[in-house]
Amino acid sequence: MKYSLFAVLSALSSFTTAQEDDGLIRMKVMKRSNHEMVAQHLERENKALLMALDAKNNPADITLVASSASLRGAAQQPSFEEQLAVAQGKSESVTIKDYSNAQYYGVLEVGSPPQEFTVIFDTGSSNLWVPQINCKNCGYWFMNGGKHKFDHSKSTTYVVDGTDFHIQYGSGDVKGSFSVDDVTLAQDIVIKGQKFAEVSDAGGLGMGYTLGKFDGIMGLGFEGLSLGNAETVFKNAMDQGLVNEGKFAFALGDNKEGELTFGGVDKSKFKGEITWVKLEEPKYWQITLDNVSAGSYSSGKTNGIVDSGTSLITGPSLEIQKIAASVGAQANLLGQYTIDCSKLSSLPNLDFTINGKAWSVPGKDLVIQSGGTCLFAMMGMDIPTGPKWILGDVFMRKFYTVFDYENAQVGFAEPTY
Ligand SMILES: *[C@@H]1O[C@H](CO)[C@@H](O)[C@H](O)[C@H]1NC(C)=O
Repeated sequence: MKYSLFAVLSALSSFTTAQEDDGLIRMKVMKRSNHEMVAQHLERENKALLMALDAKNNPADITLVASSASLRGAAQQPSFEEQLAVAQGKSESVTIKDYSNAQYYGVLEVGSPPQEFTVIFDTGSSNLWVPQINCKNCGYWFMNGGKHKFDHSKSTTYVVDGTDFHIQYGSGDVKGSFSVDDVTLAQDIVIKGQKFAEVSDAGGLGMGYTLGKFDGIMGLGFEGLSLGNAETVFKNAMDQGLVNEGKFAFALGDNKEGELTFGGVDKSKFKGEITWVKLEEPKYWQITLDNVSAGSYSSGKTNGIVDSGTSLITGPSLEIQKIAASVGAQANLLGQYTIDCSKLSSLPNLDFTINGKAWSVPGKDLVIQSGGTCLFAMMGMDIPTGPKWILGDVFMRKFYTVFDYENAQVGFAEPTY
């Protein structure tokens, strides 16, 4: 008895000491394998192809046409405009991005005693949600053991809220209701009274969610995008004095574990100075891009968001078409492209000029390769009044990326990992 108490105490104190060293809250971020991502892409492509063929052969079959269209809609992703309309209370449902390609995830806990969930840390949205017990379309036990589900009756800190949470995806609805409870990060940072959603039906996320390794999503965007006016987890952590600085930062490894720190930057993860860029406005993590260029293509002045919850780099579909044509990438039904793996070495770099400085993604990193399939890491996506480009994980993997909430700016630095 005495021994085990000592063991617990020493384990706790070594953990606390490690944290007090630099005051950072460190979270592990795991990456899904390329193989899994490409396999899922091929499966979706196949399904879309079959549906399109079916629709062509049976023009009277409206259901098939509709489902083919909705699959395309899902792949082409969300309207940020609609999302904004909802956040501003102009609409009651919302279309946000398709998470089926999401690559990075980590663990957090909700309730007391803590119940564990795997979530996508998403700088492109602002709500926290997890599936609730008895959730419909929330995975099956025979796939990855099913999803973890929140049982609020087992939490002593749970507080009822009950207002509706409703997101409209291209492929359907995700519904639930808001609750309030404690959220634990890195096993001992407890954010009290966090408003989050318990999802009761995740059908709208489709197979991407069923097959995906995540239970829920933790949004790291600003309040302006938060449904139900829920204060975000990070803002609450700041308000409750749980973080040293109002900053968090990602070190996303390729095929290895990454790190997300809350409360500051991890100086061991980058060398040289951090280059700071002011946000256009603190809503998305959106910045002005002086130029996007690759080979003979260049965009001129435009803008983009830095989004950990989007795996590829996206841009206006006409622009992506030009780039794809110039490198010989082939479009598929889902708005994505594949490229002959033998062309890898001849791919040009993709340069983002930001505040006069170029941030370059080497050509060899512009594909996601598995077996003989090379998925081109850029895809077209049109967001009428929203950002033009999305600098997703393919970009973020190349640079240590700092999200400075309190000063409304993003920072990039040369990684050491
Ligand atoms: C964008 O980059 C291309 C290629 O480096 C260059 O030719 C072009 O002048 C740049 N345009 C602007 C507006 O900076």
